[in-house]
Amino acid sequence: MFVVLLGPPGAGKGTQAQRIAAATSLLHISTGDMFRENVKNETALGQLAKTYMDRGDLVPDEVTIEMLLERIGRADAAAGAMFDGFPRNVVQARALDQALAARGARIDHALLISVSDQELIARLGGRWICRSCGALYHERNDPPTKADSCDRCGGPLYQRDDDRPEVVRTRLEKQKPPADLIAHYRAAGVLNEIDGEQPLGVVTAALLEAIR
Ligand code: AP5
Repeated sequence: MFVVLLGPPGAGKGTQAQRIAAATSLLHISTGDMFRENVKNETALGQLAKTYMDRGDLVPDEVTIEMLLERIGRADAAAGAMFDGFPRNVVQARALDQALAARGARIDHALLISVSDQELIARLGGRWICRSCGALYHERNDPPTKADSCDRCGGPLYQRDDDRPEVVRTRLEKQKPPADLIAHYRAAGVLNEIDGEQPLGVVTAALLEAIR
């Protein structure tokens, strides 16, 4: 099964992808995490991506598509995957459709998580992430037991550079799923829209229901 998670920055794509992966063992592929890993390792791709991420812009399609296609070509993605943060536009969606079609597969579900701007700003400002295992927390909505360490692995928590208020403003202006991308999946008959302002567990249950 191949699933795409769509939604604006802070909608809960990463949080829900981690929960769905735990419940279904579906492989979680996050292009944002892949870029951050490259930034951390100071690769050429990371250095390029950082110039866009720091401004709140999308990384150019050709670079992003090449990275994603390489990732889904690996053996662990043969049976299926859940894409978090990809595609961001119709060019990326078509590239993914083509790559899946070449192996006799398709996107089975596109899950659109909708959240208001006011709530997105509050979520991104309060997000904390484990540097060791990537677990996601929110200081108000989903706090860790100890303020500065991960419940799951004990690793240190940090806030993302692109969660600074001025970058969040740009991300919200430029990175909401465009109408033609949503139309692309609606036309394919695979789109489901979920109210992402509900409590975490309610959203998870709705997403699992949609893919089962
Ligand atoms: P990426 O990492 O994908 O960032 P994003 O799309 O901006 O999404 P976020 O990770 O910020 O939010 P999320 O929806 O995952 O929310 P989360 O679960 O963390 O991309 C980063 C950058 O990489 C981009 O800016 C771009 O430059 C580049 N990039 C990535 N993919 C690309 C692509 N395909 N093409 C080009 N460039 C690309 O939740 C947020 C917070 O809210 C957390 O604290 C969480 O605990 C809390 N929360 C979640 N759900 C709930 C809930 N229901 N109730 C209460 N709190 C909640």
